[in-house]
Amino acid sequence: MSKSIEVQDLNVYYSDFLAVEGVSIDIEPRSVTAFIGPSGCGKSTFLRTLNRMHEVIPGGHVKGRVLIDGDDLYGPGVDPVLVRRHVGMVFQRPNPFPTMSIRENVLAGARLNNKRLSKSDGDALVEKSLQGANLWNEVKDRLDKPGGGLSGGQQQRLCIARAIAVSPDVLLMDEPCSALDPISTFAIEELISELKNDYTIVIVTHNMQQASRVSDKTAFFNIAGTGKPGKLIEYNDTSTIFTAPTVQATEDYVSGRFG
Ligand SMILES: Nc1ncnc2c1ncn2[C@@H]1O[C@H](COP(=O)(O)OP(=O)(O)OP(=O)(O)O)[C@@H](O)[C@H]1O
Ligand SMILES: [Mg+2]
Repeated sequence: MSKSIEVQDLNVYYSDFLAVEGVSIDIEPRSVTAFIGPSGCGKSTFLRTLNRMHEVIPGGHVKGRVLIDGDDLYGPGVDPVLVRRHVGMVFQRPNPFPTMSIRENVLAGARLNNKRLSKSDGDALVEKSLQGANLWNEVKDRLDKPGGGLSGGQQQRLCIARAIAVSPDVLLMDEPCSALDPISTFAIEELISELKNDYTIVIVTHNMQQASRVSDKTAFFNIAGTGKPGKLIEYNDTSTIFTAPTVQATEDYVSGRFG
């Protein structure tokens, strides 16, 4: 089930280094939001606060609030392990378990949730997830072959299948296409457009065309200089960000005049 994300005045730290400052943003369910901005402005750092992966890094902590459908993600008694099952993540480099079969890769997360997954339920989940990730037809005859034997684009779709197999509410993607060729990139973009019917999707991308193709809303982050915190500069409909941004820095960045 797709859920909303509401962030209120979030500061993100690595020990005492303030990496991202004062982010407030509302993200609607069933939408795709793109995070853009120069390297080092904190896109990945901020993204990881949305499923509590940030605090896995020693010294990583936040101040402020993140609400998922109104529930405080950092509230007392909230189990971060459970959070990560509801808010899935896909990384820049496809990271399937290389020697594990395609089938078991898809089921890896689901098995953590349900230790006694039956063979038939597992088969159904594998097919549904691979269908959902637009990979089924390419791999249905080789489900017992290792995940590492797939092409880069197929591996990334396998990771997406693994992420959606646990039925998350939100899917976070950190530059999911940066290691892919244009055809695989196009396949992932098509997939994102379909997945937004079921999930709230946030994607970090350095590719302006990709942001304008796949996202409904775009958030532009920027940084004033080394050692300074990254900030959310402008957040609006993607068409507005790319054609009529309010802030000069946004305009400079989206038109390639940055730096
Ligand atoms: N594990 C870490 N420990 C300490 N500082 C970190 C860590 N990871 C990132 N940072 C710092 O946090 C800031 C934001 O980095 P982050 O990786 O979030 O930027 P980004 O916008 O994702 O950049 P890129 O576009 O290059 O991926 C940078 O100053 C970076 O050096
Ligand atoms: Mg990054």
